Amino acid sequence: MIVLGIETSCDETGIALYDTERGLLAHALHSQIAMHEHFGGVVPELASRDHIQRVLPLTEEVLATAGLELAALDAIAYTAGPGLAGALLVGAATAAALAMALEIPAIGVHHLEGHLLSPLLSRDPPEFPFVALLVSGGHTQLLEVAGVGHYRLLGETLDDAAGEAFDKSAKLLELGYPGGPAIAALAGLGRPGRYSLPRPMLQSGNLEFSFSGLKTAVMTLARAGLADDAARADLAWEVQEAITEVLSAKAVAAVASTGVRRLVVAGGVSANRRLRERLALAQERDGFALHFPEFELCTDNGAMIALVGALRLAAGAPAQIGGGSFDIRPRWPFDELAALGASAAS
Ligand code: KG4
Ligand code: ZN
Repeated sequence: MIVLGIETSCDETGIALYDTERGLLAHALHSQIAMHEHFGGVVPELASRDHIQRVLPLTEEVLATAGLELAALDAIAYTAGPGLAGALLVGAATAAALAMALEIPAIGVHHLEGHLLSPLLSRDPPEFPFVALLVSGGHTQLLEVAGVGHYRLLGETLDDAAGEAFDKSAKLLELGYPGGPAIAALAGLGRPGRYSLPRPMLQSGNLEFSFSGLKTAVMTLARAGLADDAARADLAWEVQEAITEVLSAKAVAAVASTGVRRLVVAGGVSANRRLRERLALAQERDGFALHFPEFELCTDNGAMIALVGALRLAAGAPAQIGGGSFDIRPRWPFDELAALGASAAS
């Protein structure tokens, strides 16, 4: 089965072709970072308009790369939520129109399930069950994953997400958007010792997170004034240390408490090299298996959406078949998705 994946939930148009037999055939991405950078964050209306311009040319591009015609498609998967309503509508409407014209199913996919299962596209895919640390711009969760649609929440953030903590700290350091890669780059020039930030909930004895206090601590330091570029780099270093120390400690604790000795890290923050380094050290010490998505599939992309569409259709999930109607869910709680998966698979 060949599935076209369409991701338009935020500021990246991601299109991909996934073949259940041969794996990922092609994927293409257009990032709107340069367009939104000027505003310090994503401007929803600009995002939607840009998706409209990119979605069909990128679809043609992946088809050409794979040497296929539209007629070769068996299904279309699109991100139905969560995300920006206008941006989601572009992907959903495109998927519905193509599905109607081609008389094939279209299936709405949960964006986070895409991230969660994206390591299955890697050269070294994990087997089920695994513990997942899902760290994106909007979510920070630890899950026990028994199979597609079988997700048990182990713990999550009580306030800001890890990616948000990177983004907000970057803003306070006037590093622009998106903050994660910017903090990581500046941290490479920083040194330990000058600043000491809290490690929120590190000793809480559970698998919950909290990052809003970190942002406040960074704000206090930034307002007091940072002497020079070296001071900014030292603070970036400490921000990255604080976030990655808590993330890796809790992920390791989740592996220990579940007894599931396989850890998968996914979502935009899984691109962070310091986080990968810390977890690799823990892996060496404790001997669990460790999996990440390929670097280019850590942040938003169409490949993960095509993959989940294929897996869900194979599990018997309902799809819209050429009816011309489509659905988006800008707010789509992840726990509702788990229930759907459980019933579809049973
Ligand atoms: O998964 P993603 O692309 O979008 C969401 O679904 O939210 O994640 C974006 C988040 C942003 O907060 C961004 O700053 C963060 O991932 N991020 C990183 C890195 N690359 C992206 N955070 C830390 N280090 C990175 N290298
Ligand atoms: Zn994402």
